[in-house]
Formats: sequence, C-alpha cells, structure tokens
Amino acid sequence: MKHHLLLIHGFPHDHTVWDLQAMGLREDAHVIAPDLRGFGIGNKEYVPEVMPMETYARDLKDLLDERGIDRVVLCGLSMGGYIAMAFLELFPERVKGLILANTKATADDEGTKENRYKIAEQAFETGVPVIARAMIPKMLSERTRKEREPIANTIERMMAQQKEEAVAAAAQGMAIRPDRSDWLKNVRIPTLIITGSEDELMDMSTSKEMHKAIEGSDLEVIDGAGHLSNVDEPDQFNEAVRRFLVEIED
Ligand code: MLT
Repeated sequence: MKHHLLLIHGFPHDHTVWDLQAMGLREDAHVIAPDLRGFGIGNKEYVPEVMPMETYARDLKDLLDERGIDRVVLCGLSMGGYIAMAFLELFPERVKGLILANTKATADDEGTKENRYKIAEQAFETGVPVIARAMIPKMLSERTRKEREPIANTIERMMAQQKEEAVAAAAQGMAIRPDRSDWLKNVRIPTLIITGSEDELMDMSTSKEMHKAIEGSDLEVIDGAGHLSNVDEPDQFNEAVRRFLVEIED
C-alpha cells in the first residue's frame, strides 16, 4: 500500500523544488507537492502581512481535507521543516511519519530575526531577484553551482519569480516561530532526519540534536550535498526517503 507523501517546500521556493522527488518517488508513494500560500508562479491567493508557520500548516491540513486524504508522511525541507513540526504539533492524528530535511527546531536569535525583517522590506524595495541572487550560494553545493550551472540557474530563477508579498510574509512568519527543541522529545512517530555535509545554513549539530531528541529517529547525512540536498543529490535523497517509506506502517 502506497503512503501519501506530503512534500513541503522551503523559502523562498515553490513546489518545483521537489520536481526530482515527484518524479523519482512516484512509484513509491502518492506524492503531493503543493505551493505554500502565495508561492508559485501566478499564485493569486491572498497573503496576510505575516504568515506564521501554523497558518501554513492549517492550509496544508485543509488541502488534505479537500482531497479526502487522512494520514500522510510529512517531509519538510528547511522552512518546510518548521511547517512540518507545526503541523505535527497541531494535527498529530494526520501524520504517520516525519522527514525533517535540512532544518532545525530552534527559534531565531535576535540577529537572524532582524535579518528576516530586513528581507521582508527588501522584497518590496529592491525586489525578490536581489534576494534570490544573494541566497543562491547558500542554497546549493559548490559542485552544483560550478559543474551544473543550469540547475543553479533554474533554482535562482524559481526563487527570483516569487511574489514580494509571499516572501515578506514568510520571512516574518519564520521570525516569530517558537523554539520546538523541547517539544521534539514528544515525537513518537517514525522520523528521518536528512541533511547535507555541505549545508551552510543548517549546522550539522542542529541535525544531530534533533536526531538525539527524537527517540528512534534515523539520521542521513548526504555527502557533498548543500542546503537543498534534494536538488544537489536527488538520487541519494530519494533513496533515503524510499528506505524510510517501507518501514512505515499504515
Ligand atoms: C529555507 O531554505 O527555507 C530557509 O533558508 C530557511 C531559513 O531561512 O531559516
């Protein structure tokens, strides 16, 4: 029996960041990879000034309700991981497995928060392409950026095309997210933590701490992958997810 696998994208991305998973895992799961509120080309949804992670989580729960899907395996990367944790806290009965990729459970420190508010302003003042240009070196591994330029260009273009309102609201929503480090100890469902050995945005120690906090969790460090480990090393990422999916009972 195939599980529903709900893939939650990060910041400032859209569902296309999961293209290689939607394709690579389609035999293994019913893959659902939606755009978060306001993200995605041509998305005209109303976006409030601030989007707390819990609001994205509620949107996703509504989506599952609309499609008549009961329980899913949640997989969130980076901001998607923050949302996955919020979802699990709010709707534990809807989750049978959890994949936290290139993410962390801690809240932002003051410096990071300030930076989020700057990014929110910048989105309107200088535009999202400037943000995308600044972020791309931290998104992908050096190998992808140097040897697979078309992939780096595709990711940068995808980020650059996101709407100002969506980017600003997500940045401010991340700034107010709570620290879920202690809460992690309550997670009692099968959990896989994935990170990349070259992720500069999420320190390896944060993944190790999550692994330690969640009893029975697995940790997969993808060698040579950066922050978007699913884009840098899709085969290894998909294989780790595949191995995890077969362990999950219905
Ligand atoms: C992401 O990839 O979603 C962001 O880099 C997360 C963050 O800025 O904390």
